Amino acid sequence: MTSVIIDFIRSTACKKAVDPFAGKGDLLKHVSVLLEICDQENDGIPYGYDIDHALCRANVWGINDSLKHIPTHNNEWLCVTNPPYLSSHTAKAKKLVDSDCYFEDNPEESDLYMIGIKRCLETFDNVIGIIPETYLLSKKFQDRLVLVNIIEENPFDDTDFPVLVACWNKEATNDFKVYKNNELVGWWNDLQKQIPTPRKSQIEIKFNQKAGKLGLIGIDSSSETNKIRFCNASEIKAEIKVSSRNLTRIEITPMPKDLSHLINISNRILEEMRIATQDVVLAAFKGNRKDGVRRRRLDFAIAKKIILKALEKHGQDELDMLFHEHGGIVYNKAVRYKRLPTGCRTIRRAFHNYKF
Ligand SMILES: C[S@@+](CC[C@H](N)C(=O)[O-])C[C@H]1O[C@@H](n2cnc3c(N)ncnc32)[C@H](O)[C@@H]1O
Repeated sequence: MTSVIIDFIRSTACKKAVDPFAGKGDLLKHVSVLLEICDQENDGIPYGYDIDHALCRANVWGINDSLKHIPTHNNEWLCVTNPPYLSSHTAKAKKLVDSDCYFEDNPEESDLYMIGIKRCLETFDNVIGIIPETYLLSKKFQDRLVLVNIIEENPFDDTDFPVLVACWNKEATNDFKVYKNNELVGWWNDLQKQIPTPRKSQIEIKFNQKAGKLGLIGIDSSSETNKIRFCNASEIKAEIKVSSRNLTRIEITPMPKDLSHLINISNRILEEMRIATQDVVLAAFKGNRKDGVRRRRLDFAIAKKIILKALEKHGQDELDMLFHEHGGIVYNKAVRYKRLPTGCRTIRRAFHNYKF
């Protein structure tokens, strides 16, 4: 338990803790010691629930299917849990039919942990959950979210899922704090603003195009020096499929003249965004880098925004260059591109991208 989470627990003024997916009770032990609640009278209400009868017998938990319903508790109880993680996709692929009933009852949820958190939030005013970091980008159950603390060091022996600790209270919130390894990164709404917001544009950006000239290495490798980056498509040797996500080629129409300049600007924008957000706006990828930092994946939606922003900058750079070549003619509003010397395609394109 880090100080950020301890402060949250104290702020709830809860006196008792319960884990609806209690397992061996490891989480409860931490919180109980912290709140000195181990010996408190609990009116016969168990501190934990589980669906596994043997675990319930061994730990005196209540037998309960907490993905379906959690018994009512008053506001003295803090819910602290790490529910089971299983995506509907994996369940289908591995034919794990036991989970079918939960996904059928909750068609809007794509993972068991989401169903678990939903049940906890329905039942308790204050909830702490250790859940996959993908939750952060899911935009779900954020209307009571107070903070998340991303933990880079894997706290579990049996899974390598990147995880975070999320804390919800009973009041509505419209923003929440993001911590990483117990250090404040910022407020989520401010961090979102660091993702480039390009102007509306007619430029077409298509991913997974075999003949695309711009390449993207979309996932950090385990080495610090080989990070997500835009590159020349010739560097992308992998076969390009509709489903490609890690390595891809991108087609831009119209294609800018100076591709290497565009690559440089795109990588600069990407790097600035990564530094300003400490990577938290990028999807977490399984397995940390060798230096312990979490690997990240750049999704196509953000990649597209970066490219469009870079094209704006690229267009501006072309104009600056032409300004020098043509003695200021480009900046003269009276001289519209139609009246520029024919064959001056670069200027036409620059005008196309440039807003006066
Ligand atoms: C990740 S473990 C939780 C470990 C526990 N929080 C601890 O600190 O030791 C998930 C637990 O959820 C239990 N579980 C799975 N499905 C359940 C369900 N539908 N209702 C209640 N418990 C469930 C499993 O038996 C397992 O013990």
